[in-house]
Order: sequence, then C-alpha cells, then structure tokens
Amino acid sequence: MEISAITFPHKTSVVSRKQFDDHVTLYDGYVSMTNLTDKTLATDPQYKTASTAGGHYRGWKKTETYSINGVILHEMYFQNLGDQATSPGPRMTSIINKYYGGFDKWKEDFIACAMSARGWCILAYEQRTATCRNILLDLHDEGHISMAYPIIVLDMYEHAYFLDYGTDKASYINRFIDNIPWGIIEKRVGVIS
Ligand SMILES: [Fe+2]
Repeated sequence: MEISAITFPHKTSVVSRKQFDDHVTLYDGYVSMTNLTDKTLATDPQYKTASTAGGHYRGWKKTETYSINGVILHEMYFQNLGDQATSPGPRMTSIINKYYGGFDKWKEDFIACAMSARGWCILAYEQRTATCRNILLDLHDEGHISMAYPIIVLDMYEHAYFLDYGTDKASYINRFIDNIPWGIIEKRVGVIS
C-alpha cells in the first residue's frame, strides 16, 4: 500500500520558512523512497539470492527501515515544531518529575543529548522497563530502542537548522524547547500512559 506525504505549512517560530520548506522537500523524498522500496521488494525475484555479504535484496531491506523511519521521525518533528511558549500538561509534568526530578533537569539532559546527536534527539518512553530516556540517533535507523515510543522528536541533522543558525546549534535547541507545543506532546503521552 502506497503512503502519501502529509502537507506541513510553515507555522513555527523556531526556523524560517525557507529552512522549513527545504526540509519538507527532503521529507517528501523519504515518502517517495518508501513507496519505491515497498514496490521493489514486492516484485524482486532476487530474494532467492539474499545474503549477509550484500547484494540487491539486502540493500533494499536496509533502505526499507531507513526510509520509513525518515518518514515517521520527520512527521513527528514537524508536528512538534511550535510557534509560542506553552506549559507541559499534567501527564508530561508527571513523567518529567518521575524520571528526571523536574523540568530543568530533563531540559539539561535533553540539551546535552541534542548537542551530541548527529541525527536525532528523542525523548522516548521505553516500554520494557517503563522508563523515559533521552536518546540520540546518528541515523534514522541507528540508535533506536526496540520497545520505545517517541514523545518529543528533534531533528539534529545540519539540514534542519544550518540556514538559520549556522554553527550555533545551541540556540536552535533552546528555541525548539522554548516553543514545544505541549498540547501535542500531552496527546502522545496519552498513548502510552
Ligand atoms: Fe531532517
């Protein structure tokens, strides 16, 4: 089944329209690549020669998870890219207090995680031990916890901020945090609590 790209208008104060629209174009590419990958794998007779050493089938299977994670993470990122300061809701406040001992401690750890990330910084709910963790991904498909649900998603690839912030990624991270749309985050938390 083909997937369709979601339309994301520029509604954020974190990045400029040019920065945002260029980023959405990259996202559209992941949607197209996901559809091409699914079509190729469904019709590929080379699965009979699949090998860990490499080859056609292995290449497309690696592309499959890379592309669909590229779609999912960008959609969650665009959706939690806010335009004004709000306050965390009761579910999120409870989680932050329980696992980090307060908003400032969570924020400090999230910033350190984002500064370290080459791809993504994510506050994730890890279901195995029922714990929240700030995790970093260097690629869309490298660094995930298998049983984890993304709650807050920040794109730390340079393509996400470099037009507006250059090398000052700390300002990008702080501006993102200051404008998190906590209403959307509260709905995400409702899925896992
Ligand atoms: Fe991105």
